[in-house]
Amino acid sequence: MTPPRGVFPLIYTRGVILKPEGLKDLTRSYWLKFLMKPYSQHLKEICEQAMEAGKQINLSDCLYGETTGSCSFINRPTNYYFFLSGFAMTQRLTHILEIGTNYGGSIMSISKGLHEDDIACSQLVTVDIVRKNETGFKKYPHINRIQGDSLDEEVVKKVMASFDRDIDLLYIDSLHEYEHTKENINIYTDKLNPGYVVLDDIRQCDDMKKLWNELEEKFGDNAFDASDVSMRKGAGFGIIRLSKPATIGKKLTFTAKKSLHPPLSA
Ligand SMILES: C[S@@+](CC[C@H](N)C(=O)[O-])C[C@H]1O[C@@H](n2cnc3c(N)ncnc32)[C@H](O)[C@@H]1O
Repeated sequence: MTPPRGVFPLIYTRGVILKPEGLKDLTRSYWLKFLMKPYSQHLKEICEQAMEAGKQINLSDCLYGETTGSCSFINRPTNYYFFLSGFAMTQRLTHILEIGTNYGGSIMSISKGLHEDDIACSQLVTVDIVRKNETGFKKYPHINRIQGDSLDEEVVKKVMASFDRDIDLLYIDSLHEYEHTKENINIYTDKLNPGYVVLDDIRQCDDMKKLWNELEEKFGDNAFDASDVSMRKGAGFGIIRLSKPATIGKKLTFTAKKSLHPPLSA
């Protein structure tokens, strides 16, 4: 049976309790708290749950790496990595596209949120014009790195060929410009029909603030500014939900997933 998406951080399947890789052993009551959550959750609650779960995941080898800021190399995971990891875990995401790899810290954190039994069937793809941290990525052979401009037609084709179904999450963290980010959203939501879109740096500059305001207006309750929850108050962090989570007990038919909203450019 295909386990439903967007359900539990812990799944009981064929008599086995699945636990995400890198997760510390937690108490029974901690897990039961998650298991009792309803399916039609508000995004805020989903985000709080993700962060709470993510804080329990060991991300010590997920470094941010090189930056253009005052600190030239960040030798630790940043706060939103815990959010991303917990989000992948609590929503049981397996098919994920990241635009903007840098050193790989964010996609590695997402990978740490995968359930152990899902790693083999997961499809994690990350795109960047640069290719860094060969050594660090050796521990993550299941992460598919594509080098190139995410808006380039050939790159789009390579990305599409990397997935065998619609994706669960599109995470965009590349050039923080209005047109560039909007174009990435439009291309990849159209081609890969993600369940969620996560945008980093929604408060970083006027361009990103403008884009986020438009998205909030368009998606209403299905857009949530998770900057506070993910401890990214300064730069900002936003989540958009594009499809309904799976219904309890219902087998997922991935191709039948229907977007609740028209493309952004429409
Ligand atoms: C902020 S960093 C990504 C950080 C990473 N997601 C993390 O959280 O660890 C932005 C990255 O986007 C990449 N980038 C910029 N423009 C791009 C483009 N057109 N296509 C693909 N990647 C791009 C840059 O090379 C840079 O590595």
